[in-house]
Amino acid sequence: MEFLKVFKSGVFIIGASDGERLNAMTASLVMPASFKPPYLTVSFDENRYTKDIIIETGKFSVSVLTESQEKIGKIFGYTSGREKDKFANFQSFILEDGLPVISNCAAWMICEYCSDIKLGDHLVIGAKVVKSKFGNGKPLLFKQDTFY
Ligand SMILES: Cc1cc2nc3c(=O)[nH]c(=O)nc-3n(C[C@H](O)[C@H](O)[C@H](O)COP(=O)(O)O)c2cc1C
Repeated sequence: MEFLKVFKSGVFIIGASDGERLNAMTASLVMPASFKPPYLTVSFDENRYTKDIIIETGKFSVSVLTESQEKIGKIFGYTSGREKDKFANFQSFILEDGLPVISNCAAWMICEYCSDIKLGDHLVIGAKVVKSKFGNGKPLLFKQDTFY
């Protein structure tokens, strides 16, 4: 899919909580969708555990990684929370409305589920941004050869 190379994206950590356990996954398919009020979309492969928690609880966090946080993208991007507690040895986060937000990230948002649409092998979730904070640091850009 050569055409995908023209789309530039950041690297994001999508955080969720089922009330007992935290989970998070790395995502690049994240897109602002409306300015007033602010909405965004996140596109999930149908197997993602994080997506299942979001459908169940209706909320999630988005942390925008900085250029120095590439390692965090790798911690959350290759293993599913179904098999492993990704927060067991990870302390670099705070809780915002009960959801994990990466410490010192470029920006974070708390989102409320609004609707979804199934497109091919992904489920695109549209959500309202109900809280956000702009931080410091240059956002990390997703590059295929850095992560795969
Ligand atoms: C840089 C990067 C970007 C990713 N982007 C997405 C994405 O946009 N959507 C998606 O469903 N998975 C994406 N993934 C894969 C998930 O992060 C990965 O499958 C993760 O283990 C899912 O965890 P979970 O099952 O605990 O939700 C990405 C992985 C990496 C490393």
